[in-house]
Amino acid sequence: MTDAHQYANDCMLLRRRPSGLPTLDCFEAFVQPLAPLAAGKVRCQTLYLSLDPYIRSVIAGNHMGHGIEPGEVIPGETVARIVDSNCSDWPIGTLVRCDGGWQHFSDHTAEDLHPLPPGLLHPSLALSVLGMPGLTAFAGIHRLAQVTVGDTVVIPAAVGGVGAMAGQLARLAGAKTIAITSGQKKRQIALEQLGYSACIDRDQDDVATVLAAEAPEGVSVYFDLVGDPLLTTVSQQLAIGGRIVLCGLMGDYNGIQKTTGPPPGLWIGKRATVKGLVVYDFEHERSDFEQAYIPLVRDGVIQTNEEFHVGLACAPEAFCRLMRGENTGKVVVQLAVSEQGV
Ligand SMILES: NC(=O)c1ccc[n+]([C@@H]2O[C@H](COP(=O)([O-])OP(=O)(O)OC[C@H]3O[C@@H](n4cnc5c(N)ncnc54)[C@H](OP(=O)(O)O)[C@@H]3O)[C@@H](O)[C@H]2O)c1
Repeated sequence: MTDAHQYANDCMLLRRRPSGLPTLDCFEAFVQPLAPLAAGKVRCQTLYLSLDPYIRSVIAGNHMGHGIEPGEVIPGETVARIVDSNCSDWPIGTLVRCDGGWQHFSDHTAEDLHPLPPGLLHPSLALSVLGMPGLTAFAGIHRLAQVTVGDTVVIPAAVGGVGAMAGQLARLAGAKTIAITSGQKKRQIALEQLGYSACIDRDQDDVATVLAAEAPEGVSVYFDLVGDPLLTTVSQQLAIGGRIVLCGLMGDYNGIQKTTGPPPGLWIGKRATVKGLVVYDFEHERSDFEQAYIPLVRDGVIQTNEEFHVGLACAPEAFCRLMRGENTGKVVVQLAVSEQGV
């Protein structure tokens, strides 16, 4: 380890809580001194930082009862390299997944570290298609909705971290998959790269009209990542016995709207099943999920869709773009290059 690692740590702090869409002045770059590594601790250098919508709730102070205060380092899941270790089980040079946050160096106890699964094409995949967003898609499509041959599955935010994997899992299960997204570039990714059968532009198309044409028998599964107005629009075209997985409220996180959903009578009439998904409940399945899907990603059966940014200084703008819905894939920031060169 070099001296620089021992004395300085570039970080990104929360300067003020956002009101509405997050803006660059919510964040502040800061250099913190690094103390010598404590006994029993491991020092990690961040290679890749995951930017996720839930961080909007964390910096607002209310993510599932938790949050951070202004002046604190923004949290975030990372892939990192161990650069110093007082823990014999975790030698220098090991690549790990941890909650390193928006900073170059973070210190952890052994329990906070997860080894990267063998066979990954690229370490950043442990944060995207083979990481938390991929596991979320797996839980929604297979465990909760139990998608099968003949289903018609509708997925909003269709090319993002969760949506890109969900669409592919549903297609591989034999379903017809309908993407809802925005803009020509994302339409192209949805149809040509991710293999959706059809794509609806939530800004340009009349969603209800196009959906009725694409799903004349009704929607059997809606994997909701965004909330209203799409939740209500799609629920109105649910098939009898339709399944809805409630997973995210992208439209609500900036505090500009509050999803209420359709009148419950609509779901009653459709004999619908509505389930809420929290990915933490499926953590025990992560290892089986990795082993099952690493080969499919390696063989190109499942496509990856990551949007890379380089340098910690890019993180605030990349996060603001994500919360404006402008990202075109799972958002990952590269902070350093590993010794393996990736
Ligand atoms: N419950 C859980 O355990 C869990 C775990 C992981 C993620 N999630 C949730 O899953 C959702 C997707 O997360 P992600 O990381 O994969 O993000 P993402 O899809 O990569 O990015 C968000 C996307 O949402 C869409 N969007 C933004 N504002 C919207 C609006 N007002 N109405 C409709 N769509 C909007 C945009 O896509 P288009 O332009 O293509 O529409 C945007 O690119 C989020 O709600 C997240 O909180 C939940």
